[in-house]
Amino acid sequence: MRPVLLGVLLALPALSLAHDVPRVPPNPTYQAECGSCHVAYPPRLLPAQAWDRIMARLERHFGSDASVDEPTKRELSAFLSRNAGRRAAPAGEEPRITQTAWFVKEHRRANMRNPADCAACHSTLKGQ
Ligand code: HEC
Ligand code: HEC
Repeated sequence: MRPVLLGVLLALPALSLAHDVPRVPPNPTYQAECGSCHVAYPPRLLPAQAWDRIMARLERHFGSDASVDEPTKRELSAFLSRNAGRRAAPAGEEPRITQTAWFVKEHRRANMRNPADCAACHSTLKGQ
């Protein structure tokens, strides 16, 4: 292998942590309503049906009340569907990003005290 190409390959793992975490498309309503208790999770990390399940029970949201009025709910649901991903989500009424197969695999080497606290390790998810 030529040295230049090898150098490029070796640089890849260091970049990937910042580069492959999807951005949250700008949306003030989403930031305000879904980014107050935890980071506003990137919509692309769950498929549309999983977001639908989450939005269907906001008043009993992972042990919290995260309910919003109907127009806001419609706006958030549309935003999440529009920007959702395609990878499979866990079954159940409360699908977690942190329980998807890719998440578990990707984080098997990380020391996770609170896996849902993305910003502790991913600076690009801070303050969004
Ligand atoms: C009142 C506080 C609150 C609000 C507002 C809130 N959440 Fe949550 N959310 C929580 C709590 C608490 C958890 C569980 C966190 C944990 O297990 O560490 C959670 C977990 C989640 C998870 C699963 C994270 C994982 O473990 O993979 C998703 C997805 C999620 N929330 C999406 C949303 C969306 C979308 C909105 C806006 C409609 C929202 N949340 C608004 C409190 C809130
Ligand atoms: C304890 C630290 C830690 C926490 C908390 C954490 N991550 Fe990660 N995450 C990592 C590390 C380290 C990697 C890279 C794994 C590797 O490359 O071996 C990673 C990889 C990823 C990747 C894949 C990026 C790539 O390199 O392909 C995504 C997407 C991701 N994390 C999203 C999240 C989200 C969303 C949350 C919160 C729900 C989260 N992470 C919580 C440490 C963490």
